[in-house]
Amino acid sequence: MKTDLRFPKNFVWGVATAAPQIEGAAFEDGKGESIWDRFSRIPGKCHNGDNLDVANDHYHLFKQDFALMRKLGVKHYRLSLAWPRIYPNGDGAVNPKGIAFYNRLFDAMLKEGITPWVTLFHWDLPQALEDRGGWRSRLVTEAFATYADTVVKAFGDRVKNWITLNEIPCFTNMGHGQGDKAPGTNETQKVINQTFHHAILCHGHAVRAVREHGGKGARVGLTDNSTIPVPVTETPADIAAAKAWFGDVNAHILGAISGGGYSAAYLKRCGADRPEVRKGDFDLISLPTDFLGMNIYSGTFVRAGKKGKPEVVAFPPDYPQTSCPWLKIVPQSIYWGTRLAHEVYGAKNIYITENGCGYDNEPFVDGEIQDLHRRDLVRNYLKELHRAIGHGVPVRGYFLWSFMDNYEWQDGYTRRFGIVHCDFKTQKRTPKLSAKWYARVMEENRLV
Ligand code: NOJ
Repeated sequence: MKTDLRFPKNFVWGVATAAPQIEGAAFEDGKGESIWDRFSRIPGKCHNGDNLDVANDHYHLFKQDFALMRKLGVKHYRLSLAWPRIYPNGDGAVNPKGIAFYNRLFDAMLKEGITPWVTLFHWDLPQALEDRGGWRSRLVTEAFATYADTVVKAFGDRVKNWITLNEIPCFTNMGHGQGDKAPGTNETQKVINQTFHHAILCHGHAVRAVREHGGKGARVGLTDNSTIPVPVTETPADIAAAKAWFGDVNAHILGAISGGGYSAAYLKRCGADRPEVRKGDFDLISLPTDFLGMNIYSGTFVRAGKKGKPEVVAFPPDYPQTSCPWLKIVPQSIYWGTRLAHEVYGAKNIYITENGCGYDNEPFVDGEIQDLHRRDLVRNYLKELHRAIGHGVPVRGYFLWSFMDNYEWQDGYTRRFGIVHCDFKTQKRTPKLSAKWYARVMEENRLV
């Protein structure tokens, strides 16, 4: 019997990582300090006091990592560049050894038949920029524009798929509001709104850089972790409530980049805390992109409340979750996230740039990590993605987070998201059961 869970022809299957989480070599070959190198050294901030100094030592082991990817049949790989490796001070002099490293990396990747999808910024702001105001200051946007020009010029012959920034709310709001991510401060809403604005302005600069220097076939888009409502019942009233809620809570990012400005509702909500916007900012911010990257892990249940107004239904204590309290298992989030991004904000080519799960307890059984929990979670999310595609949502690809266990930010090395296990003492990589399963999915272009 033939399965109906086949994906469209040319669907992009891949895996994802990010430089600060895997590279290590945090102070080697002239790399500058990042805000995460600094933050992870503040006692009590990161689990176990874990830092990024060595991580997966991918800086030295990338050839073997690409060989393993090839063995698993990985053809598309999302990675990020470390800004402080290229510009140790954030701006000023380029570090030639940083450029040389990524040249070696891309050459090795292409030799293994792997297509790079490159994120310019995945949270590792050079500490030198933080010292001059960081995301709070407009200076960061000028430094970023130069960095974007430099890397697109340097690698644009081999890299054709560019992602501007990863998950703006995390390094702005969580970094400066909640304080649980670097730089770990607790600032006013006005400051946070300004960091949002500078981040979307950097997105615009990256789009411009790719258009100017990317060469033939270059494509660019943002990776957003939109806040996703899931209608409690799939009925017109709850769907309408979810749709309205989605538009509202994502207005400052998805709305801003696709709509040519901040919505009146968003500005009203900001009140006196509205960000300072300069003339011409939105010419950059709303430059057309080629795709939208979405990192989708979970969702929020929403229904039509009084007078049809959206009402959030909180998770009860026993709702199923992974080892991350924030990662409640909501497979329908991938259906509603992609569908609503398309319907509300007109996203045309959508790539899931991250999806996956983190667990703390994954023992070897007879030499194998039998992570049925991960295989099952991913399979259930992919079923919902398949449903979205069947309903006409333009989803073109899927990247599983993550290729291997790595530095999970403030949760350190205990929280494992990989389909490949990493022994951080020996650096031995061992594909888990989920990696073998995903290899078949990629190969057969269907859920097995
Ligand atoms: C989002 C981030 O982009 C990535 O760096 C992180 O490790 C995963 N989600 C899991 O939390």
